[in-house]
Amino acid sequence: MSILDKHKILETNATLLLIFSFLVVTIGGLVQIAPLFYLENTIEKVEGMRPYTPLEMAGREVYIREGCYVCHSQMIRPMRDEVERYGHYSLAAESMYDRPFQWGSKRTGPDLARVGGRYSDEWHADHLRDPQAVVPESVMPKYGFLEEKMIDGKYIGDIMATNALLGTPYTDEMIDAAQADFRAQADPDSDYDGLLERYGEDINVRNFDGNPGISEADALIAYLQMLGTLVDFSTFTPDASR
Ligand code: HEC
Repeated sequence: MSILDKHKILETNATLLLIFSFLVVTIGGLVQIAPLFYLENTIEKVEGMRPYTPLEMAGREVYIREGCYVCHSQMIRPMRDEVERYGHYSLAAESMYDRPFQWGSKRTGPDLARVGGRYSDEWHADHLRDPQAVVPESVMPKYGFLEEKMIDGKYIGDIMATNALLGTPYTDEMIDAAQADFRAQADPDSDYDGLLERYGEDINVRNFDGNPGISEADALIAYLQMLGTLVDFSTFTPDASR
């Protein structure tokens, strides 16, 4: 019996075909996935990574809810054209606190992995309100309603506690102070020492959307303005042994 005839047995018997497909997928999956659990350097250690502040986390929730990931990736591939356009290619460590990750699968708009600090807060506020006013040929929808939707950060502590459960290094103190830190980051006149102490000296503390009160736009812009800014690539050298 030739090999083709043997294969015919598989192809004409649904149960056998299912069993063998399952075997193939299992072996393939194991070969690809299992080593990653044992490799020390699956996620390289880099300096500067920290968990999201409560306000940034709230912005991330808006980003996910609005489906920004449908048009925007957050994953710069190590190819020359991408690196020249967007900056250093993305490291695994940079999305280690992202649950779920926002790598995305499609770029209708540009990659946002390093958009932090590239534009002013006003630019973001104007662009979110009316993308076509800033970039006439843009197909991005208008998100003006975000600056009218006020939020109080009531649930941010719960979201942080859930992330802590999954391994993000949020301390009890950070979770308890979540709502206070949430408010402090959006108000430069507040007492935000605690926020800086918990998350780091270079946290952006600003009125991000320029309007009174804390809106979803404040949170979203706080999130956008920190994307890709944590790792200092002027001092980062990839581990040559990999
Ligand atoms: C229908 C697809 C689409 C959706 C959904 C979308 N965008 Fe965009 N976005 C674009 C396009 C196209 C551009 C490029 C033109 C422009 O700047 O408006 C863009 C540009 C941007 C830029 C400027 C990036 C740069 O480097 O110039 C930012 C920031 C941005 N979008 C944020 C968002 C956020 C936040 C959301 C969700 C609230 C979102 N976008 C949803 C299509 C989209």
